[in-house]
Amino acid sequence: MNTPKHIAFIMDGNGRWARARGMPRLKGHEAGAETVKRVLSLAGSYGIPIVSLYAFSVENWSRPSLEVRGLMSLLGRFLEREADELFDKGIRLRVMGRREDLPAALDKALAKTEERTAGFSGRQLVLCLSYGGRTEIAAAARSLARDVASGLVDPEKIDESLFASRLYLPDLPDPDLIVRTSGERRLSNFLLWQCAYSELYSTPVAWPDFGEDDFRAALEDFASRQRRFGGLEPAAQA
Ligand code: FPP
Repeated sequence: MNTPKHIAFIMDGNGRWARARGMPRLKGHEAGAETVKRVLSLAGSYGIPIVSLYAFSVENWSRPSLEVRGLMSLLGRFLEREADELFDKGIRLRVMGRREDLPAALDKALAKTEERTAGFSGRQLVLCLSYGGRTEIAAAARSLARDVASGLVDPEKIDESLFASRLYLPDLPDPDLIVRTSGERRLSNFLLWQCAYSELYSTPVAWPDFGEDDFRAALEDFASRQRRFGGLEPAAQA
């Protein structure tokens, strides 16, 4: 089966999952953290080296402070519990987003695990935190504009690859497949530059329930797609 090298998840539906069970929304996020472990392990068994997770968007700061604090604390606890496991499995942790917005203790814990796993070149877990696609693109434009203003960059030399070199993680390959759970069919400001040729997959299953069969279904769907990147299939070239 043709599997993606980089799979990205929009982990949606935690709140609805919890509410449907008469529980507070945070319980849905806690169950979602268990799905993160499951998905990482499944990605490993399918030989998918890069997993990106939309864990907290720039827009998510506008949620009630109880939920925001709960999510930050959950991320901290997840890291505490899983950092050794990431290290033992040779998974490199990377963070993309406005990390300066994150609580200092969380940022420090993330940086520690990033440093500890920085030497791994096989698998990667990318946590998108305080992330917004438009924010990322605006930051890249700002960085180039500064260099143009100081004479370091000739504006005529700005092309796609120079622009992409100013994104948060310039060396990260674009996602081959973006999976969104809980039935919505939109990107919600996720990886807007990087998604140009990504295959999109939506499943009605809520993130806390996303399991092995759902993972396999997404991969089978991906394997059935013909990716032409704007070109033609070889058979149609003549
Ligand atoms: C969207 O569902 C989900 C989030 C904003 C947070 C995702 C976070 C986790 C799964 C927590 C654990 C993450 C890691 C990396 C350990 P929603 O709450 O908007 O769902 P709703 O649309 O049903 O309200």
